Amino acid sequence: MHVDDAIRSRKSVRRFLPTPVPAPVVRHILEVAARAPSGNNVQPWRVYALAGAARDAFCSDVVAAASTDPDRHQPEYAYYPTAWFEPYLERRRRCGFGLYATLGIARDDKVARARQMLRNYTFFDAPVGLLVTLDRRLNTGSYMDVGMFLQSILVAARAQGLHTCAQAAFAWFHQVARRHLPMTDHEILLCAVALGHEDPAAPENAFITERAAPEDFTSFHGFAP
Ligand SMILES: Cc1cc2nc3c(=O)[nH]c(=O)nc-3n(C[C@H](O)[C@H](O)[C@H](O)COP(=O)(O)O)c2cc1C
Repeated sequence: MHVDDAIRSRKSVRRFLPTPVPAPVVRHILEVAARAPSGNNVQPWRVYALAGAARDAFCSDVVAAASTDPDRHQPEYAYYPTAWFEPYLERRRRCGFGLYATLGIARDDKVARARQMLRNYTFFDAPVGLLVTLDRRLNTGSYMDVGMFLQSILVAARAQGLHTCAQAAFAWFHQVARRHLPMTDHEILLCAVALGHEDPAAPENAFITERAAPEDFTSFHGFAP
C-alpha cells in the first residue's frame, strides 16, 4: 500500500465487526509504529493491549463509571481548552453535527447523543483496545512523540486491512484502567485506540471529515514562482 493511500484511507471508524485480530497482527502493528521518531529516541510510550475477557471486563467497568457518576472522573492532562474559539469552534461543530447527522441523531436529542458517546467505552465494538500512556516525569515535548507513535499505529493498521479510532475519551477513566492494569503512578493515560475490522454497512463509518487546504495553514517563503 502506498503511504499516501494508507494515510488517506485512515478515518475514525465508530462501528467494528466482531472479527478477532490475532495477537501477532497487533504486535506487528506496534513494532512498525514504534519506528516513530521521538526526541533523543526516548520512546516515551507504553501500551496496554486488551482483547477477549480482559477487554470485556475493562469496558464493562468504564461503561458503568461513565453511566453512573461521570463527573467524578477527570483526565490527568488537559486535551481541550475550557472555552472554544474560532476557527476551531466551527470545525468542532461541523465534526460533531456531521457525525450525528450520519447516525440520524437530531442536534437536541441529548439521550441519543449520550448513548452514542457511551459507545466509546466499548471501543465501538472493536475486538482490540490499546491504551497508550506517557511517563508524567517527562515534559510537554513527549506529547509530540506519543502523537507520532499514535498516528503510526493508525497508519500501520491500514497496511493490515484494519481500521482504528483514536479515543481520548478513555483519558477520563484512568482510575478504572489502574484497577485492571499494572499502570504505575508515573503513567498518564493519554489515549486509547480501537482496532479492528470496519463494519462497511454502518452509516457512521461513511462520515468523511473535511480538511483545510495547505494554502489555508501554510505560508510559503523563498520558493521559485
Ligand atoms: C488524539 C485523538 C483523540 C480522539 N478521541 C476521540 C474520542 O474519544 N472519541 C471519538 O469518537 N473520536 C475521537 N477522535 C477522532 C476525531 O474526532 C477524528 O480524528 C476527527 O474528527 C477527524 O476525523 P477522521 O479521524 O475520520 O479523519 C480522536 C482523535 C485524536 C487524534
